[in-house]
Amino acid sequence: MKLSPSEVVNISDLRRLAQKRAPKAVFDYLDGGADSEITLGENTRAFRDILFRPRQAVAFPECGLSVKVLGREISFPAMLAPVGYSRMMHPGGEVVAARAAGEAGTGYILSTISGHKMENVKAATPGFAWYQLYLVGGRGAAEGAIERAKKAGFSALVITVDTAVGGLRERDPRNGMKELLGGSIFAKMPFLPEIISHPRWLAGFLMDGGLPKLENIVIPGKGPMELLDVSASLAQSAVSWADFPWIRQLWNGPIVVKGILIADDARRAVDQGASAVVVSNHGGRQLDEVYPSIRALPEVVAAVGKQTEVLMDGGIRRGSDIVKALCLGARAVLVGRAYAYGLAAGGYEGVKKAIQILREDVERTMRLLGCPSVAELNESYIQYPREWKAL
Ligand code: GLV
Repeated sequence: MKLSPSEVVNISDLRRLAQKRAPKAVFDYLDGGADSEITLGENTRAFRDILFRPRQAVAFPECGLSVKVLGREISFPAMLAPVGYSRMMHPGGEVVAARAAGEAGTGYILSTISGHKMENVKAATPGFAWYQLYLVGGRGAAEGAIERAKKAGFSALVITVDTAVGGLRERDPRNGMKELLGGSIFAKMPFLPEIISHPRWLAGFLMDGGLPKLENIVIPGKGPMELLDVSASLAQSAVSWADFPWIRQLWNGPIVVKGILIADDARRAVDQGASAVVVSNHGGRQLDEVYPSIRALPEVVAAVGKQTEVLMDGGIRRGSDIVKALCLGARAVLVGRAYAYGLAAGGYEGVKKAIQILREDVERTMRLLGCPSVAELNESYIQYPREWKAL
């Protein structure tokens, strides 16, 4: 698919195209958040509370954008976050997203809720990939997935800790997500006209073989799990601190704990051996009315920033957001919707475009800020609300 430069200037443009191409159930799954979507909105809005303090008339030939995350260099300080149901957004799904990430010199994180086999995803990228683990399917399925991830060459395990149950993403039941994924033909009927009115998406979906299975959740003795709606999946996904010891026994590589919002939990994650934590509210899709991620970042950096790497996700739509997060102490960010809009809009080309937009944004922002390297970003380049400082 060709994305014309006049049509796609920023991430919002990709969002608009995704909304056009994908059926409402698919687009809303990606775009929506929990309950009143307060945190969803605040995640992006809160970046506006941070203002830049540029150094003018600073010239530098090269702008340093690369950082090291868990010992691997990434070409600019953003990685691709785990996004569930990517194969529903576009048949290429996780495979093309991983490929675009690797070609751009950054890492990809594969969600447990994925439609392509993890071995194929890892093989598609010239870069590195991490595996995000949910306990859907039970411990036996998780043990199998950890073993496969190790063999396939995933270099870190990401454990998401904010899914005690699924958040109520109100758009999903309204769009008949459960019926569409698992209901009888009669239950599906009211929702089919909307799907049929997106023929380009539908043709791709049918040519891809229809509903994919959850290829990375293999129940011992049964095979890959059938696709479940997200609330049913997350209802079986809860991880508790008590799970960390057995996971550690099976996985001797680095562990990343994703979904941290307060200092105490960040310290707990470090005590459990986390090599990195991700400050995250799951893109506003779980508990609504929690801190926007960027506002939670200073507290976590103050608590564990000297012992562990701190990443963040939530609300990143522009390179300037990435620069602000680094000023507040994040080593790098994860972007989810920002690239998934590209995936839903145009598959591989869309993801590539999203990464290119963000990367060029970061470089332009750095030059306008008068800062020659992302390693030199710090709080002196911004002004932000005092109450965000660690308590
Ligand atoms: C999956 O993890 C989701 O939040 O939809």
